[in-house]
Amino acid sequence: MPETLDLIRCPMVGWFPHGFVRPNVVWQWYNSSAQFQLKTQQMTDIVKTERAPGTAQPAVLPIKAQLAEAPVGLLKFAKLAGRNMLEVIPIETTTQTYLKGPLNIHYICDPEIITELLVGEGRRFPKAQFTKDILGSAVGNSMMLSEGEKWKAQRRRYSPLFAARNLPLLSQHFAETGKEIAASLREGSGLVDVAQMAPAATLTNISRVIFSGNEEVSAEQIRVGLRNYFEYISELSLFDVMGLPSWLPRKKWFKSKAPVTDMRALARQVIESRRAESRPIPLDFLDLMIAALEEDFEDIETTVDNLLTFVVAGHETSANALAWGAYLLALHPDVQNAVRQEITDISPDEPITFDDIQKMPLLRAHTKETLRLYPSAAFFARDAGADITIKGIKFAKGDALFYPVYSLHRNEVLWEDPDAYKPERFMGAPLPRGQYIPFGDGPRVCIGAQYAEAEMMVLMASILRGVAFDIGDAPIPRPVLTFTMRAGGPIMLRTRPV
Ligand code: HEM
Repeated sequence: MPETLDLIRCPMVGWFPHGFVRPNVVWQWYNSSAQFQLKTQQMTDIVKTERAPGTAQPAVLPIKAQLAEAPVGLLKFAKLAGRNMLEVIPIETTTQTYLKGPLNIHYICDPEIITELLVGEGRRFPKAQFTKDILGSAVGNSMMLSEGEKWKAQRRRYSPLFAARNLPLLSQHFAETGKEIAASLREGSGLVDVAQMAPAATLTNISRVIFSGNEEVSAEQIRVGLRNYFEYISELSLFDVMGLPSWLPRKKWFKSKAPVTDMRALARQVIESRRAESRPIPLDFLDLMIAALEEDFEDIETTVDNLLTFVVAGHETSANALAWGAYLLALHPDVQNAVRQEITDISPDEPITFDDIQKMPLLRAHTKETLRLYPSAAFFARDAGADITIKGIKFAKGDALFYPVYSLHRNEVLWEDPDAYKPERFMGAPLPRGQYIPFGDGPRVCIGAQYAEAEMMVLMASILRGVAFDIGDAPIPRPVLTFTMRAGGPIMLRTRPV
């Protein structure tokens, strides 16, 4: 793939003269990281040219994930789950709304049951133990994993940070990144791997809003720290997936924990030096975080846990949606043109603002439809905290409640043409609660949902205004689910200035 590699490198030259963690740098380390090698290995050479049902004109259906077509035994489950969780989710979850799995597992795609469990009587059920085992070493006691009063206090403390009133400020940072990405893509138009471009953009955003303007720690330290940290946490332990007792040795135990301890030390240093600076007006997310802590005490280790949680939860999730969104628009040039028209009508050349994106219903519908077809959190789980019966189904205390969001969003009982890209689904009457849950629901709904929507929309609007995406000849990889649901290889699209 010589052309590909050249073109991946090409737009990096001369990016971001004043940037901190610059997309070109991040892009390069993504290229060389274990994550990228994993992607390349897992890349499958299938672009399924399926016809959308009921359409006179042949239309290509977007690439689908490979779900399990036959029952998966426990050992195979553990082996596959560590590589790609989607391969252990039974395909019947896309044709039925409830499925009893092996052991004490329930696969739930019924919107009413989901709502009763996440929002109603089951809303206090704890996060699944295996989720805690997998994520615990990286994000410790953060809001993501804690329960009860501990969780409540953190959620209360940090909720105001993500409030709508802060989004205009954060969107300024997103627009800055979007402008730079667009300029770079215009310069080096040709084949681009959007699965690499997108995390470069969101990591730049998170670096801008959290680590910006920090003099104590160098850009290089943060860059290397984050790279090692992501490599460490993206390795799922099979034992964790199998739910084996925590005293059984994990492969990770034999590896140095340095990536985590180093990153924690850096985060601590950044928080402390910023605290000492005591800026009069908050200029970014870290300032907002520190301002919240002034009013409500939290020990520094928990703050570090939460800071790293925001970096981890916030960067890859939005990036995946941005990359798949570019692919869907390339597959549907008519929608791409209409979205671009909407963007240029509202904001022909100024940086895109938070206010602008409120006036872009088609872009919003595209973003939602992208998260329907490719939900970054394609699966999450709870342990039943008590016996409960809903719609005649008994869930016993301790049962594993699986929410296969990918299957729910493509369930043929619930959706018309479930595998077809139709943003207009999100331009009419609201959907029944529980049918569309890319950000979860109930008290543990994603705290960063509005942040993520603003980020994805501002980035996409900034890029589309100057660049068009076309489908090239390269095969499109299927989605895989490890830490988040991402492309199993490069998504090579053609770009050209518009
Ligand atoms: C497209 C982007 C995103 C998606 C699809 C997404 C999805 C989700 C989902 C499904 C949950 C609930 C999981 C469960 O119930 O077990 C969740 C929780 C969470 N998300 Fe996100 N997320 C995104 C972006 C973000 C961002 C940008 C941040 C922060 C900067 C963030 C921070 C969190 C946190 C802290 C939680 C835990 C909340 C709690 O338990 O109280 N997420 N996310």
